[in-house]
Amino acid sequence: MERDSKPTLTEEVHQAAILDFSQMLSEGRVHWGEEIRAQHGADETEDLVFLPDVVLEPASTEEVAAILIWANNHEVPVTAAGARTGLSGGALPICGGIALSLNRMNRIHAIDTLNHQAIVEPGVITEELSNAAAAQGLMYAVDPASRGTCTIGGNLAENSGGPRAVKYGVTKDWVLNLQVVLADGSVIETGANTLKNSTGYNLTQLMVGSEGTLGIVTRATLKLLPMPRHQALMLVPFSSAESACAAVAEIFQVGAVPSALEFMERDAVLLAQQFTGNREIDMGANVEAHLLIEVDGFGQGDLMPQCERILPVLEAHDAGEVLFAESAAEKEALWFLRRRVGEAVKAASTYKEEDTVVPRGELPALLRKVKSLGVKHGFRSICYGHAGDGNLHINILRDDLDEATWNDTLNVAIRELFSEVVALGGTLSGEHGIGYVQKNYMDLACSPKQLAIMRGIKAVLDPKGILNPGKIFPDAHRR
Ligand code: LAC
Ligand code: ZN
Repeated sequence: MERDSKPTLTEEVHQAAILDFSQMLSEGRVHWGEEIRAQHGADETEDLVFLPDVVLEPASTEEVAAILIWANNHEVPVTAAGARTGLSGGALPICGGIALSLNRMNRIHAIDTLNHQAIVEPGVITEELSNAAAAQGLMYAVDPASRGTCTIGGNLAENSGGPRAVKYGVTKDWVLNLQVVLADGSVIETGANTLKNSTGYNLTQLMVGSEGTLGIVTRATLKLLPMPRHQALMLVPFSSAESACAAVAEIFQVGAVPSALEFMERDAVLLAQQFTGNREIDMGANVEAHLLIEVDGFGQGDLMPQCERILPVLEAHDAGEVLFAESAAEKEALWFLRRRVGEAVKAASTYKEEDTVVPRGELPALLRKVKSLGVKHGFRSICYGHAGDGNLHINILRDDLDEATWNDTLNVAIRELFSEVVALGGTLSGEHGIGYVQKNYMDLACSPKQLAIMRGIKAVLDPKGILNPGKIFPDAHRR
């Protein structure tokens, strides 16, 4: 844990902030007490805590703009946050200053059934948007494991994915247009509310995944889809985790298009079972891993042909007996278990999580590397994730590792892991972002020239460096 309760602002600026923001925002939306600062100083990343000096809760684009004008004039850091469910420390105010909570900006302005679009504010909880769309027979396709608590603004900031991404894509694939407040308080639209747009540089996609370092999203126009009505869900045990990984790419080679293809190591399932009390999966003694495979369609008849393509691949990789979830309740129980794996690991031990992604054919090689690094450096890992995307969440558990191993040796091991990921054609993060915890590995994935271009973009949009300082760029801690 890293804790720094001293205000980073001078007494004079801190007092001015409290006074000026109290005039700008109505009562109860400016906070400087220890408890609320502590809440906003943490997200779901490891056990890190960095206190902001003041927490603000704007309720409109105009208020966000007024706050940024003030912050830019006073050169005070601003870190935007939604539900703080992030796993890379993107919402941690590591340089202090203002924690900008967007939770009050949580209106769904429109579910446009004529154009299949939704217009929402950043504080809308992802599942609430999905439910509002579903009530109109439409689907908002992005489904992070934390969808019941995470927000659209956070999903945009980190370019979040989820199990359905393998068929439907990640957040970036569903964004048409954004309203963004820039560091100097000016308000822009990044594009248009159209399905196609070939009009100049793509500022919309520049903002997605930029982790609040380039601007603050205050409204998003998102695409919706007709809702597929039918799903089949298979849970498939393997006595070799590597065989499970090897089956993944072949499932696509035979022409199947799963709507989810998840991998869970034995310990991931066991911990989630303990955590949720759900014993749905009868874990055989020699099961090393499971694949959870879903196919979907508009008619029941769309499902079996897909399953029939997939089953021989599973057989060829020595899968055990396939469990077909029969009822909606059984499907929901399996998904509930899968979505709780992250929380279950967190409850079990302090851990570091890597969100590695490789071309899916390289998954077996990635898993092999993780396990061999564990043997070499003496750590236990629990792997799970979106195998169909080649996206493996690698959780390294602290267990009883000593301080030196945890803080120093592991950095060496993680560098070695990321080097291998890049050698396999992959990259550092598939869906959690770089944020604070991965930034010192950026040199492995991006050339100096790439990093210089990114820094140049940052300098144009945020010349004083007030927006979420200390993120993404290597060794950027203090401004
Ligand atoms: C998941 C989160 C951790 O896939 O991304 O469960
Ligand atoms: Zn995930």
